[in-house]
Amino acid sequence: MKGVVFVELLSMAESAFGEATVDNVLDEADLDNGGAFTAVGNYPCDHLIKLVEGFSEKSGASPEALQQKFGFWMLDFFEKGYSDFFVGKENSFDMLEAIDTEIHVEVLKLYPEAELPSFTTERFGDSQFEMVYSSPRPLVEFCQGLIEACIERFKETATIERTAVPNQPNNTRFLITLTS
Ligand code: HEM
Repeated sequence: MKGVVFVELLSMAESAFGEATVDNVLDEADLDNGGAFTAVGNYPCDHLIKLVEGFSEKSGASPEALQQKFGFWMLDFFEKGYSDFFVGKENSFDMLEAIDTEIHVEVLKLYPEAELPSFTTERFGDSQFEMVYSSPRPLVEFCQGLIEACIERFKETATIERTAVPNQPNNTRFLITLTS
């Protein structure tokens, strides 16, 4: 997993819980890189999970809620750092449709070592959209946060129904129905 993701997680945690908590969690997590992350490095995803658990213990927020919060944080970060990807997208469905076909494709060209999920998408009329997220990493809550943030970014409101896909443990189905 790209170092930038870790750097941003620590930055979100610092703004939410303060520097002392971040130092504490990094110490206690006892990671094999000594808790030192650079944006250009690559680190195992389980380090991220361990850090989220640490922040959960210190803050009382659930790991699921923290991953979702981090999804919001990262969408904001992506928009600031990679605004080109948002150009020409008129609504959340346009944006979500482009992740697998365009955005993550470009990300992989920039960072060949990135570990990205895959998505299949389908539109049902103007107000419903299905997205099947596929990843071996336990980041489904992070994905949900990104999706919710994307909907908010386009000033839309929606309900999201999330279901497991039978016999496909790496897959999760999101059914998004616009309510505005
Ligand atoms: C709403 C839109 C997006 C969604 C739902 C989404 C989804 C995800 C998810 C769930 C992951 C975690 C990896 C995994 O689950 O296996 C991920 C990783 C990543 N995404 Fe996206 N993404 C979105 C937009 C973007 C944009 C706009 C960029 C622009 C640069 C981007 C770049 C990345 C990068 C760099 C990673 C980390 C890869 C790694 O750590 O190796 N994503 N994305």
